[in-house]
Amino acid sequence: MSVIIALDFPSATETLQFLDPFPPNERPFVKIGMELFYAEGPGIVSELKRRGHGVFLDLKLHDIPNTVKRAMARLSALGADIVNVHAAGGTDMMRAALEGLVRPDGTRPLLIAVTQLTSTSPQMLRDELLIGAPMEETVLHYAENARAAGLDGVVCSPLEAAAVKAHCGAGFLAVTPGVRFADSSADDQKRVMTPEQAFAAGSDYIVMGRPITRAQDPVAAWRRAEAAATVASR
Ligand code: C5P
Repeated sequence: MSVIIALDFPSATETLQFLDPFPPNERPFVKIGMELFYAEGPGIVSELKRRGHGVFLDLKLHDIPNTVKRAMARLSALGADIVNVHAAGGTDMMRAALEGLVRPDGTRPLLIAVTQLTSTSPQMLRDELLIGAPMEETVLHYAENARAAGLDGVVCSPLEAAAVKAHCGAGFLAVTPGVRFADSSADDQKRVMTPEQAFAAGSDYIVMGRPITRAQDPVAAWRRAEAAATVASR
């Protein structure tokens, strides 16, 4: 169990300024999203790996299988530890993504799937996307598709983690954003859990951005979240 800090910064300069105070023997696992990756390119991944960070490259690929397979080979070569796709791309695409990720030495990053974006409301699912099944059913069905394609887990709300595990097995990873300390602002997250609650609910990795990146003392905030992982894994 571990904490992943969402590096939602616009540039490498701000990212490295934020990470500099972390001591060399305490390098947090970090998430690079589209903003930072599109601004800085592959170099930011190599730089953070060189500095000893675990890297979740959150680019949510969704395209035809061959394109995703070839793109995944490029991301894998950068040394990312976790990458992701949209489960909506289908099982053939997810299988192709897995194939593309295998490195010449046989290793590969973990591959997880986004089920439904948390910005998708039940009304939007029904009226815009014309999907008649209830939200929770689609989340579990997409998670099952991901498992059947051989993926390692899904990104989901900590509120869905227990159901995902019950459906797909305890070893299927639940990576969960939407986590807040009891005394921190929810920002724009609608349904949140504390780190302790999220790990107890079955999260393997919790993704936390603003409660750590905007804290007065980010290193202390990160240690506080990691302490919850240590307690939960006992
Ligand atoms: O600052 P905060 O803790 O809300 O950041 C959460 C991170 O997780 C952001 O990078 C956000 O884009 C990402 N995320 C999310 N909800 C999802 C998928 C990703 O909050 N369903």
